[in-house]
Amino acid sequence: MMKLATIGTSKITDSFLNAVEKSGRLTFEGAYSRTEEKAQTFTETHHGKKWFTSIEKLAESSDIDVVYVASPNSLHFEQVKVLLGAGKHVICEKPIFATGKEFAEAFELAEKNHVFLFEAIRNIQTPVFARLKEELPRAGKIRSAVLQLIQYSSRYDQFLEGKITNVFSPQFAGGALEDLGVYPLYVAVALFGAPEDAAYYPVKLSSGIDGSGTLVLRYEGFVCTILCSKIAHSGVPSQIHGEKGTFSINSSSDISRLEWQDAHTKETETVASNPSDNDKFYEINRFADIIENGRTSDYLHLKNLSREVLRVMETVRKQNGIIFPNDR
Ligand SMILES: NC(=O)c1ccc[n+]([C@@H]2O[C@H](COP(=O)([O-])OP(=O)(O)OC[C@H]3O[C@@H](n4cnc5c(N)ncnc54)[C@H](OP(=O)(O)O)[C@@H]3O)[C@@H](O)[C@H]2O)c1
Repeated sequence: MMKLATIGTSKITDSFLNAVEKSGRLTFEGAYSRTEEKAQTFTETHHGKKWFTSIEKLAESSDIDVVYVASPNSLHFEQVKVLLGAGKHVICEKPIFATGKEFAEAFELAEKNHVFLFEAIRNIQTPVFARLKEELPRAGKIRSAVLQLIQYSSRYDQFLEGKITNVFSPQFAGGALEDLGVYPLYVAVALFGAPEDAAYYPVKLSSGIDGSGTLVLRYEGFVCTILCSKIAHSGVPSQIHGEKGTFSINSSSDISRLEWQDAHTKETETVASNPSDNDKFYEINRFADIIENGRTSDYLHLKNLSREVLRVMETVRKQNGIIFPNDR
C-alpha cells in the first residue's frame, strides 16, 4: 500500500487522515510540523511511525510515496515544489496555488518527475455531485444559477478582537473567495465549463482581504452568481434554474442531497442523497486510482478544472486589488 506523510497539523489533517483510514488505500507513515513535539504527538495520535521537522528530509525519505499538504495557502507552492522535485506524489489542499505561474511550474515539475499532483477539492468528487452532473440535461436550458457558501467563521471573532489569523490575511493568501468561493466556483466550472467572463464584488476587511463577496460568471444564455462569506451565515441551498425545473443542492461544499422541482407542476422530489459523513473518502479513492492505474484522462480532466478555477480567482482578485506575496 502507498505510504502517506502530511504537512499541517490542524483539524483538516485530522479529518483527512480519518478518511484515509476509512478508504484503506494509503497507510499513514508520519507527519511534518514546524515543532518537534507537535510532529511527534500528531504522528503518534494517528498511529504513524516517523515524524519530520524538515520538509526537505520528508521529501528525501524513501519510506514516503504521497504527501498531503494542508498548510496556509500562500505556502503551498514552495512546499509542493520541494516534494515534487524529490519524486513524491502530492495532494495539496484547496486552493492549490495563488497564481497561474505557480500552477504551470508545479505541474511541469510533476510531469518531469513522473508523479501526480492533485488539488484536494472534495465537493465535486461526491456521488451526489456526479448524479447532478448526469441529471442536469433534465433542467432544459439553464437560465440562472445561484451557488453559495456563506459560513460565519469563528476566526472572524478573533479578527474583531484584533487577531488576524492566516485565513483573514493577505500574507497567507486568505479571504472568502480563496477559502470558500472556490467550492461553488468548482461546481460552476465542473458543470458549465469556463465562463465567458467573470466579475467579483468583494466586501473588503481592514486586513486587505475579502470577508465576503459576490462573483458573477457569464455563460451563453445565463448568469451564475456565487456568494461567499466568512462574516455572515446562511443555510440556503444552492440552485440551478432551468426552463424545465430547478436542481437544489443542500450546500456547495458538503454536497449530500440533491432535489428537483418541476417548473410546471411545482412538485419536488429527492433525486439523490448520501450520509454527510467524511466526504474526503471519495477524493482519496479517485486520487489513489489515478496513481495506481495511471488514469491519465481523468488526471488531465481534474488538472484542467483546477487550472480554470485558479484562472478565474486570480483574475478577479487582481482586478479588485487583493494582492498576495505570491504575486510579487
Ligand atoms: N478541504 C477542506 O474541507 C478544508 C477545510 C479547511 C481548510 N482547508 C485547507 O487546508 C489548508 C490549511 O487550512 P487551515 O485552516 O488548517 O490553516 P492553518 O490552521 O492556518 O494552518 C494549517 C497548518 O499549517 C501550519 N502553519 C500555520 N501557520 C503557519 C505559518 N505561519 N508558517 C508555516 N506553517 C504554518 C500549522 O502546522 P504546524 O504548526 O504543525 O507546522 C497548521 O497546523 C488551507 O489550504 C485550507 O484552504 C481545507
